[in-house]
Amino acid sequence: MSNSAFPSLPASFVWGVSTAAYQIEGAVTEGGRGATSWDAFCATPGRVFDGHTGEIACDHYHRYPEDIALMKQLGIDAYRFSFAWSRIQPTGSGAVNADGLAFYDRLVDGLLEAGIAPTPTLFHWDTPLALEEKGGWLNRDITDRFADYAHIMGTHFADRIPQWITINEPVVLTMLGYGAGIQAPGQQLGFGALPAAHHQLLAHGRAVTALRAAGADNIGIANNHAPTWAASEKEEDQQAAGLYDAIANWVFADPILLGRYPAELEPFLPVGAQDDLPAISVPIDWYGINYYNPTKVSAPGESTGLIDGQELDIDLPFALQDIEGYPTTDFDWPVVPEAFTELLTSFQTRYGSALPPIYITENGCAINDGPNADGVVADQRRIDYTASHLAAIADAVDAGVDVRGYFHWSLLDNFEWAVGFSQRFGLIYTDYETQERIPKQSYWWYRDVIQSHR
Ligand code: GAL
Repeated sequence: MSNSAFPSLPASFVWGVSTAAYQIEGAVTEGGRGATSWDAFCATPGRVFDGHTGEIACDHYHRYPEDIALMKQLGIDAYRFSFAWSRIQPTGSGAVNADGLAFYDRLVDGLLEAGIAPTPTLFHWDTPLALEEKGGWLNRDITDRFADYAHIMGTHFADRIPQWITINEPVVLTMLGYGAGIQAPGQQLGFGALPAAHHQLLAHGRAVTALRAAGADNIGIANNHAPTWAASEKEEDQQAAGLYDAIANWVFADPILLGRYPAELEPFLPVGAQDDLPAISVPIDWYGINYYNPTKVSAPGESTGLIDGQELDIDLPFALQDIEGYPTTDFDWPVVPEAFTELLTSFQTRYGSALPPIYITENGCAINDGPNADGVVADQRRIDYTASHLAAIADAVDAGVDVRGYFHWSLLDNFEWAVGFSQRFGLIYTDYETQERIPKQSYWWYRDVIQSHR
């Protein structure tokens, strides 16, 4: 009989952790790697907190054997990481860089030896710079390039990789990268960013097809979703929240799961976008959800709202508001586990039989506790956050949602994009001076949760 801390989760539940290439690898000029949009963004003064960059990050490129050993000790079933496209094709197209493939061969083989299922994402925001300079995700040409890259990776790894993810959070690259300009590539196009959404969705669909043609199977996408709460019952707040919900959630899920776009966004999509819907909606085997917190939205007023502490400099037909009355993480994100259950059940309601099984491909919190005098990182708040969110998933499972696994964000503290190393999401503490890894109390707690479920 199982002594599981979360008995509602199925016996076959997959326990994992998640990372991404630019956030952990470092070694940005080694092994023939080409520059990316993030290298360029970090090199631009004022873009990233305190001038931090991913040049070294967690030095995972060299320290991956130690990191695999830590994962083995943690007892996870699966490890979600990302391939850096520019290690494989330094300019995003053309010949394959053998050194790049060799690095991922070593990583994948090391994981398999440790009994951990490699679960790669093909693209986690690090666009090859040569492609970014040609318009990046605003240029439809990138979908051809991405399909080629997917085929290369599928051909090389299909026999060793049991589960694949095409793209990470196209919503964030669209809204923060091309819309608001607070992440790479730093463009402030407002609604003019929506072609980047369409091209990522098309690239996803074409990658699914290319991976399958190469013999790969068990393919999904990792989409970020946040339940959208209107700030009040007032008509203008309701309308603003409805529009935000379409942009933040449904424009990324409806085309994949239903083969259609939310009607209110059609005017902002490239001409002919409808014709691509069959390619976008090719069947996937499962749907990945990244969840952190809900979003509260009002009609635009005096304040345009803040994203991660940064004031937006563009006119938008909605404003983001603080969610009061809940604890917050050190990144000031509200901790609302019941909104996670709400999100999962809303997917079930919206998509019904069109919804494939769900994996939680990211969930976690920035808690910046460091080692105490005894060298212990007592991050009880991360334990509480994770326990309450696993309970929220269990509630959704009890309500009939088919959730098959959970990848905690993140294995170790790493480069948190525009805020650099200032926010710590890891189960393992990273000392950036020495590169020492110190498992936090949450790491040992997560190990016990996994063991209790066996
Ligand atoms: C996600 C992203 C991750 C990580 C996490 C925590 O949006 O996919 O790379 O940064 O948020 O903020």
